[in-house]
Amino acid sequence: MTTATQLSFIHRFEAGANLTAPPVLLLHGTGGDENDLIGVGRMVAPDAALLSPRGKVLEGGMPRFFRRLAEGVFDEDDVKRRANELADFIAEAREAYGLPAPLALGFSNGANIAAATLLLRPEALVGAVLIRAMVPMSEPPVANLTGKPVLILSGSMDPMVPAANADRLAAMLKDTGADVQHRTLPAGHGLSQADIALARDFITHASGAIVSGA
Ligand code: MLT
Repeated sequence: MTTATQLSFIHRFEAGANLTAPPVLLLHGTGGDENDLIGVGRMVAPDAALLSPRGKVLEGGMPRFFRRLAEGVFDEDDVKRRANELADFIAEAREAYGLPAPLALGFSNGANIAAATLLLRPEALVGAVLIRAMVPMSEPPVANLTGKPVLILSGSMDPMVPAANADRLAAMLKDTGADVQHRTLPAGHGLSQADIALARDFITHASGAIVSGA
Protein backbone atom coordinates (compact mmCIF):
# COMPACT_ATOMS: atom_id res chain seq x y z
CA MET A 1 0.00 0.00 0.00
CA THR A 2 1.48 3.35 -1.01
CA THR A 3 -0.31 6.20 0.73
CA ALA A 4 1.48 9.48 0.01
CA THR A 5 1.43 12.54 2.23
CA GLN A 6 3.61 15.06 0.42
CA LEU A 7 0.86 16.92 -1.51
CA SER A 8 -2.02 18.88 0.04
CA PHE A 9 -4.22 15.77 0.50
CA ILE A 10 -3.20 12.40 1.91
CA HIS A 11 -3.70 10.20 -1.13
CA ARG A 12 -2.81 7.09 -3.08
CA PHE A 13 -1.48 7.19 -6.58
CA GLU A 14 -1.33 4.11 -8.79
CA ALA A 15 0.39 4.48 -12.15
CA GLY A 16 -1.43 3.17 -15.23
CA ALA A 17 -0.11 1.33 -18.28
CA ASN A 18 -1.92 3.77 -20.59
CA LEU A 19 -0.25 7.17 -20.27
CA THR A 20 -2.66 9.05 -22.52
CA ALA A 21 -5.95 7.88 -20.95
CA PRO A 22 -7.40 10.32 -18.41
CA PRO A 23 -6.49 9.21 -14.89
CA VAL A 24 -9.42 8.33 -12.65
CA LEU A 25 -9.86 10.50 -9.56
CA LEU A 26 -11.46 8.25 -6.93
CA LEU A 27 -13.57 10.01 -4.28
CA HIS A 28 -14.75 7.87 -1.39
CA GLY A 29 -17.94 8.07 0.66
CA THR A 30 -18.30 9.13 4.31
CA GLY A 31 -16.06 7.02 6.55
CA GLY A 32 -13.93 5.82 3.67
CA ASP A 33 -10.35 6.65 2.82
CA GLU A 34 -7.86 6.67 -0.05
CA ASN A 35 -7.75 2.86 -0.17
CA ASP A 36 -11.50 2.22 -0.49
CA LEU A 37 -12.06 2.63 -4.20
CA ILE A 38 -8.71 1.47 -5.61
CA GLY A 39 -10.12 -1.99 -6.43
CA VAL A 40 -13.18 -0.42 -8.08
CA GLY A 41 -10.89 1.95 -9.98
CA ARG A 42 -8.92 -0.96 -11.39
CA MET A 43 -12.14 -2.71 -12.44
CA VAL A 44 -13.57 0.32 -14.25
CA ALA A 45 -10.29 1.55 -15.78
CA PRO A 46 -7.75 -1.31 -15.85
CA ASP A 47 -5.02 0.68 -17.65
CA ALA A 48 -5.53 4.20 -16.30
CA ALA A 49 -3.61 5.93 -13.52
CA LEU A 50 -5.61 6.18 -10.29
CA LEU A 51 -5.48 9.16 -7.94
CA SER A 52 -7.33 8.70 -4.67
CA PRO A 53 -7.33 11.48 -2.03
CA ARG A 54 -8.67 11.14 1.51
CA GLY A 55 -11.35 13.68 2.50
CA LYS A 56 -10.02 16.18 5.04
CA VAL A 57 -13.18 16.76 7.07
CA LEU A 58 -13.80 14.45 10.03
CA GLU A 59 -17.33 13.68 11.20
CA GLY A 60 -17.12 11.64 14.39
CA GLY A 61 -13.72 10.43 13.18
CA MET A 62 -15.03 9.54 9.70
CA PRO A 63 -13.33 11.23 6.73
CA ARG A 64 -15.52 13.21 4.33
CA PHE A 65 -14.94 15.80 1.63
CA PHE A 66 -17.02 18.63 3.19
CA ARG A 67 -18.94 19.46 6.35
CA ARG A 68 -22.65 18.72 6.66
CA LEU A 69 -25.12 20.08 9.20
CA ALA A 70 -27.29 16.93 9.12
CA GLU A 71 -27.74 13.99 6.76
CA GLY A 72 -28.40 15.53 3.34
CA VAL A 73 -28.05 19.11 4.68
CA PHE A 74 -24.74 20.58 3.59
CA ASP A 75 -22.60 23.45 4.88
CA GLU A 76 -22.51 25.11 1.47
CA ASP A 77 -19.67 27.52 2.33
CA ASP A 78 -17.59 24.51 3.22
CA VAL A 79 -18.68 22.70 0.03
CA LYS A 80 -17.32 25.63 -2.00
CA ARG A 81 -14.09 25.92 -0.03
CA ARG A 82 -13.42 22.17 -0.16
CA ALA A 83 -14.23 21.84 -3.87
CA ASN A 84 -11.69 24.58 -4.58
CA GLU A 85 -9.15 22.83 -2.34
CA LEU A 86 -9.74 19.57 -4.21
CA ALA A 87 -9.32 21.28 -7.59
CA ASP A 88 -6.02 22.79 -6.34
CA PHE A 89 -4.88 19.32 -5.24
CA ILE A 90 -5.73 17.91 -8.68
CA ALA A 91 -3.52 20.58 -10.29
CA GLU A 92 -0.68 19.78 -7.84
CA ALA A 93 -0.96 16.04 -8.45
CA ARG A 94 -1.04 16.51 -12.23
CA GLU A 95 2.22 18.40 -12.00
CA ALA A 96 3.83 15.99 -9.52
CA TYR A 97 2.89 12.83 -11.43
CA GLY A 98 2.80 14.25 -14.98
CA LEU A 99 -0.89 13.57 -15.60
CA PRO A 100 -3.57 14.81 -17.99
CA ALA A 101 -6.79 16.11 -16.40
CA PRO A 102 -8.70 13.31 -14.64
CA LEU A 103 -12.18 11.93 -14.88
CA ALA A 104 -13.76 11.63 -11.41
CA LEU A 105 -15.50 8.58 -10.02
CA GLY A 106 -17.23 9.56 -6.79
CA PHE A 107 -19.43 7.58 -4.47
CA SER A 108 -21.99 9.25 -2.15
CA ASN A 109 -20.17 12.13 -0.40
CA GLY A 110 -17.38 11.68 -2.98
CA ALA A 111 -19.93 12.04 -5.81
CA ASN A 112 -21.26 15.22 -4.19
CA ILE A 113 -17.83 16.87 -4.00
CA ALA A 114 -17.17 15.77 -7.59
CA ALA A 115 -20.40 17.49 -8.70
CA ALA A 116 -19.44 20.64 -6.78
CA THR A 117 -15.95 20.60 -8.32
CA LEU A 118 -17.40 20.26 -11.83
CA LEU A 119 -19.65 23.27 -11.22
CA LEU A 120 -17.07 25.47 -9.46
CA ARG A 121 -13.83 24.50 -11.22
CA PRO A 122 -14.79 22.94 -14.58
CA GLU A 123 -11.17 22.92 -15.77
CA ALA A 124 -10.22 20.41 -13.05
CA LEU A 125 -12.14 17.43 -14.48
CA VAL A 126 -12.76 16.07 -17.97
CA GLY A 127 -15.89 14.25 -16.84
CA ALA A 128 -17.36 12.29 -13.97
CA VAL A 129 -19.21 9.21 -12.79
CA LEU A 130 -21.42 10.27 -9.88
CA ILE A 131 -22.76 7.32 -7.89
CA ARG A 132 -25.68 8.11 -5.51
CA ALA A 133 -25.10 11.85 -5.92
CA MET A 134 -27.17 14.77 -4.64
CA VAL A 135 -27.34 18.49 -5.47
CA PRO A 136 -24.28 19.89 -3.66
CA MET A 137 -25.21 23.60 -3.75
CA SER A 138 -28.62 25.26 -3.80
CA GLU A 139 -27.34 28.13 -5.95
CA PRO A 140 -24.69 26.82 -8.30
CA PRO A 141 -22.46 29.23 -10.22
CA VAL A 142 -22.99 29.72 -13.95
CA ALA A 143 -20.61 27.10 -15.33
CA ASN A 144 -19.72 26.00 -18.84
CA LEU A 145 -19.31 22.23 -18.99
CA THR A 146 -20.09 21.94 -22.69
CA GLY A 147 -19.61 18.39 -23.90
CA LYS A 148 -18.15 17.02 -20.66
CA PRO A 149 -19.37 13.43 -20.18
CA VAL A 150 -21.18 12.84 -16.88
CA LEU A 151 -22.87 9.62 -15.77
CA ILE A 152 -25.17 9.82 -12.73
CA LEU A 153 -26.10 6.46 -11.21
CA SER A 154 -28.98 6.61 -8.72
CA GLY A 155 -30.67 3.87 -6.69
CA SER A 156 -34.47 3.51 -6.83
CA MET A 157 -34.43 2.28 -3.20
CA ASP A 158 -31.85 4.75 -1.92
CA PRO A 159 -33.09 6.01 1.49
CA MET A 160 -30.63 8.94 1.46
CA VAL A 161 -31.10 10.48 -1.98
CA PRO A 162 -34.66 11.38 -3.01
CA ALA A 163 -35.29 10.75 -6.72
CA ALA A 164 -36.28 14.39 -7.22
CA ASN A 165 -32.96 15.56 -5.83
CA ALA A 166 -30.94 13.36 -8.23
CA ASP A 167 -33.17 14.55 -11.09
CA ARG A 168 -32.44 18.15 -10.09
CA LEU A 169 -28.71 17.47 -10.17
CA ALA A 170 -29.01 15.94 -13.65
CA ALA A 171 -30.97 19.00 -14.86
CA MET A 172 -28.46 21.39 -13.24
CA LEU A 173 -25.55 19.71 -15.01
CA LYS A 174 -27.43 19.53 -18.34
CA ASP A 175 -28.03 23.30 -18.08
CA THR A 176 -24.24 23.82 -18.12
CA GLY A 177 -23.96 21.97 -21.44
CA ALA A 178 -22.56 18.74 -19.94
CA ASP A 179 -23.35 15.53 -21.80
CA VAL A 180 -25.33 13.91 -18.98
CA GLN A 181 -26.64 10.34 -18.76
CA HIS A 182 -28.77 9.60 -15.70
CA ARG A 183 -29.57 5.96 -14.91
CA THR A 184 -31.59 4.71 -11.95
CA LEU A 185 -30.79 1.16 -10.85
CA PRO A 186 -32.89 -1.19 -8.68
CA ALA A 187 -30.47 -0.57 -5.78
CA GLY A 188 -30.14 1.17 -2.43
CA HIS A 189 -27.42 3.64 -1.41
CA GLY A 190 -24.62 1.05 -1.63
CA LEU A 191 -22.39 0.41 -4.61
CA SER A 192 -23.52 -2.57 -6.71
CA GLN A 193 -22.03 -4.74 -9.47
CA ALA A 194 -24.32 -2.97 -11.94
CA ASP A 195 -22.77 0.39 -10.97
CA ILE A 196 -19.32 -1.00 -11.69
CA ALA A 197 -20.32 -2.47 -15.06
CA LEU A 198 -22.01 0.76 -16.18
CA ALA A 199 -19.12 2.90 -14.92
CA ARG A 200 -16.63 0.70 -16.80
CA ASP A 201 -18.53 1.00 -20.10
CA PHE A 202 -18.94 4.74 -19.65
CA ILE A 203 -15.28 5.36 -18.75
CA THR A 204 -14.03 3.18 -21.62
CA HIS A 205 -16.15 5.14 -24.08
CA ALA A 206 -15.48 8.60 -22.55
CA SER A 207 -11.72 8.01 -22.28
CA GLY A 208 -11.53 6.84 -25.89
CA ALA A 209 -13.38 9.95 -27.06
CA ILE A 210 -11.18 12.25 -24.94
CA VAL A 211 -7.93 10.68 -26.16
CA SER A 212 -9.01 10.82 -29.83
CA GLY A 213 -10.29 14.38 -29.38
CA ALA A 214 -13.79 13.34 -30.54
C1 MLT B 1 -23.32 13.65 1.98
O1 MLT B 1 -23.27 14.01 3.13
O2 MLT B 1 -22.52 14.02 1.11
C2 MLT B 1 -24.45 12.74 1.63
O3 MLT B 1 -25.40 12.77 2.62
C3 MLT B 1 -23.97 11.37 1.38
C4 MLT B 1 -23.21 10.81 2.54
O4 MLT B 1 -22.08 11.13 2.73
O5 MLT B 1 -23.74 10.00 3.30
